[in-house]
Order: sequence, then C-alpha cells, then structure tokens
Amino acid sequence: MDDALMQAPLFSALDAEAAVALRASMVETLAPRGTIIFNEGEIGDHMYVIVGGKIKLGHASSDGRESLLAVLGPGEIFGELSLFDPGPRTATATALTDARVLALGNTSLHPWLAGRPEVAEALLAALARRLRRTNDALADLVFSDVPGRVAKALLELADKFGTWHEEGTLVKHDMTQEELAQLVGASRETVNKALADFTQRGWIRVDQREVLLLSVDRLARRAR
Ligand code: CMP
Repeated sequence: MDDALMQAPLFSALDAEAAVALRASMVETLAPRGTIIFNEGEIGDHMYVIVGGKIKLGHASSDGRESLLAVLGPGEIFGELSLFDPGPRTATATALTDARVLALGNTSLHPWLAGRPEVAEALLAALARRLRRTNDALADLVFSDVPGRVAKALLELADKFGTWHEEGTLVKHDMTQEELAQLVGASRETVNKALADFTQRGWIRVDQREVLLLSVDRLARRAR
C-alpha cells in the first residue's frame, strides 16, 4: 500500500488486512493537470482520496467570481460532504497538478461505516479539522488584513507542501498568482503587493508557482 494512502483518515485507523480490502473497493483515476473531477452543483455519489498531486476546491459566486476553499494534497480526502449529507457538490474539484485519486462509491463506503466504527471516527475527525480550519479562515476574513492572510496562507501551504531548502522552506504550491489570490480571498493586486512587501523585507522569495520562505518566524508574527 502507498504511504500517502496509509495516512489518509480512511485507512489510518485500519489494520493492514482491512486497509487492503478497502483499497480493493476503490477505483484509481489519473487526473492530468487541469482535469475537472467534479463540478459544483452536480449530484455526487463518490468520495476521493488523493494518492499523489494536488487538488483545488473552487467555489463560484453568483456574479462569476471564483474563490478557492482549499488546496489538498496526498492523503487528504474530498467529496465526502455529498455522501454524508446527500445534495449537490459544494465546490468544483480540479487537478492543480497531475494527480492520482482513488474513488470510493457511496454503496461501498456504507458497510465500512456500519461495520468499522474506527473508519467513521477517522472521517469525523477529518471533518472536524476541516471545520476548525474553515472557522479560522472565516475569522481571518473579518479580523485580519490582506498581508496577514497572505502570511497565514503561506504558512499553511508550507505545513502541507513545504520541503527543506538550505535557505529556508520551499513551498511548491503550483498555483498561479490569480489562484493564490482566490485562496486568500483578495484581489490579485493586493496579494501581489503583500508578496512584494514580504520580498522586500527579505522574508520570502517568489518564483513561478513556488515561494521560498526565508523567515517563517516573521511571517508567523505577521499572520497573528
Ligand atoms: P462535496 O460537497 O461532495 O464536493 C466538494 C468538496 O469540497 C466537499 O465535498 C468537501 O470535500 C470539499 N470542501 C468543501 N468545503 C471545504 C472547505 N471549507 N475546506 C476544505 N474542503 C472543503
């Protein structure tokens, strides 16, 4: 079994034999960069586990503007809301990089939920974490300024996707500047201004689809 998979909430609670059985009821899909896995508003009967790559979850407002709810990576799940609370998909899932995902159908999931309370508990824990993060982001939209939110977003991305670099933490986020702005919930201009200011202070270095964090401490202070 893949390492990322064993860490996914669905699998982490299971012993090896059960994990293999669950894996066998899932279908693997390769999603090249830009592939839409599902659209907001569609009826959904599958949830997904990311094995490799990144998936963005985007939401369109009634006037056509886009916002990003989250960018997820290996081991994370998405598409579970429409299973637990049947209804239309609340966001569009798009592959931000070439990605590998496993799909689990509603009918395959239910016996696991009924027969293995640890699977249900692990999924509840993942949902609770997501709600916590969303509440945090909501408070930041009300109480923090754009540079504060940019600093916070960079730190969150570093937590998820950061790798060691001799000068700091390298974050390959794979987003365009427009997408980064959609994630922060601000205009591209104000987000760029914040990035330019952090660069000028020597806290970060910005490159195409990646950022090098040179001073995590200063960013953390700015994010508070
Ligand atoms: P579903 O509504 O089936 O399809 C869209 C998915 O996006 C949803 O399930 C969740 O898995 C995911 N999603 C929705 N809102 C958020 C959020 N605030 N943070 C992270 N993921 C989310």
